[in-house]
Amino acid sequence: MTELLIKGGTVYTEDGPLEADVLVADGVITRVEPGLALTAKGKEIDATGKYVLPGGIDVHVHSRDPGFPEKEDFGTLTAAAAAGGVTVVLDMPNTVPAVDSAGVLESKAALARSKARVDFGLWGLIRSTTTADELAGMAAAGAVGFKAYLAYSFSQSRKQVLYSPGSDDPDLEPPADYGTLARLAPAVARLGLPLAVHAEDPAILAAFQRPLLSYSDLLDSRPPEAEAVAVSAAAAVARDTGVHLHIAHLSSALGLAAAEDAVRSGTSLSLETCPQFLFLTAEDFDRVGLAMKMLPPVRTAADRDALIDGLRRGVIDMVSTDHAPHTDEEKSRPFEDAPAGSPGVQTLYLSCLQLAKSMGDVWLAPRWVSQAPAVLAGLEESKGSIASGFDADIVIVDPAARTRVRPEEMRSRQRRGALDGKEFDFAIKEVYLRGEPVTRAGKAHGRMVRPALVAR
Ligand code: DOR
Ligand code: ZN
Repeated sequence: MTELLIKGGTVYTEDGPLEADVLVADGVITRVEPGLALTAKGKEIDATGKYVLPGGIDVHVHSRDPGFPEKEDFGTLTAAAAAGGVTVVLDMPNTVPAVDSAGVLESKAALARSKARVDFGLWGLIRSTTTADELAGMAAAGAVGFKAYLAYSFSQSRKQVLYSPGSDDPDLEPPADYGTLARLAPAVARLGLPLAVHAEDPAILAAFQRPLLSYSDLLDSRPPEAEAVAVSAAAAVARDTGVHLHIAHLSSALGLAAAEDAVRSGTSLSLETCPQFLFLTAEDFDRVGLAMKMLPPVRTAADRDALIDGLRRGVIDMVSTDHAPHTDEEKSRPFEDAPAGSPGVQTLYLSCLQLAKSMGDVWLAPRWVSQAPAVLAGLEESKGSIASGFDADIVIVDPAARTRVRPEEMRSRQRRGALDGKEFDFAIKEVYLRGEPVTRAGKAHGRMVRPALVAR
């Protein structure tokens, strides 16, 4: 048996912060209390003055692997995650081939296992031709849930294609629509997995389609009504099926209001938003440049403030990144030709600590990036908390050190992100995955996580 003892830190527990030591044996937390000592051979870490937090779980990343390893692969994705205190990533199914069957999911899992430095889970794809049997197959192969794209957002072309992103087409045709959601929601509910939706209404996007020559064209082309209508419609079709609906990358005040209405009328629904929507507004485009070309777009100060307020009120459950790297070459094209998407996983935890601090309660951050995501992913019995019996996925944060976001320190293949230059009043000191340090080590010992299908 090998032990790890983390002494003297302020530990985030489900009941709040606690001055305590954390004892880990063979990768699992065994005790959380003051005055502990090693009981077997092992290592002792002094965490005096530091925060001891549960590893982050980013429920929305795009590894690009397989398909576009020049943009990112599981090695670079998970190195960036590890450096930022994220110990589980849930990868979206728009890799190539798209993850639409048990077989594709299994081969993607094998590829990811060979490179992953942190744990990972895989979303399966719902397209309009998907069957309940295919969903059951993907669930048996370990899918954490299913993602339905009502519209796509990685347009590369001047035309701003809604469904078919041209040369970047990640094989997603034909897309899901509300009929697909209504048809498959009962099957997803029976499997006990979440149904994640890219919520933009295609008819509204079609009505606002235009050449995308500038950031304001981009904003005008993706109005918040598209988000709100898609949230309401998805919630309406999901409502009486018992399925758990998860709204990806919520970006607008109107979308939030629609989601709140749906929750009030009884829909089981969780909401994620992303740091770009919490730290930036459209005005930042002139400073940030194409790293801010992301979809849905970063909108107005009123949208940002509504989302921050949604987190404060606990209506928005979690923060994910929509980490979506493209190559330098792609991101230096003229505005209309550059693909949408930017990296973010490495700055997730620090940015959330900063936001939580500005709200007067830094302990909100582990709730948004660890505890709530663990519940969504069905991992709440093994991850998302520092408590006896949980995996020792632990991040040690120094609240007395600062971090400035610098491209040269980013581990993702795309180093430029929308938060470049931001300063946070915290620094990540050590990151442990099941008791093993992963901050600097290059070993691929990440495992695939599978949801425990508990009644929810
Ligand atoms: O900007 C985006 N890029 N938004 C998404 O939802 C997907 C992503 C991508 O895959 O590039
Ligand atoms: Zn995405």
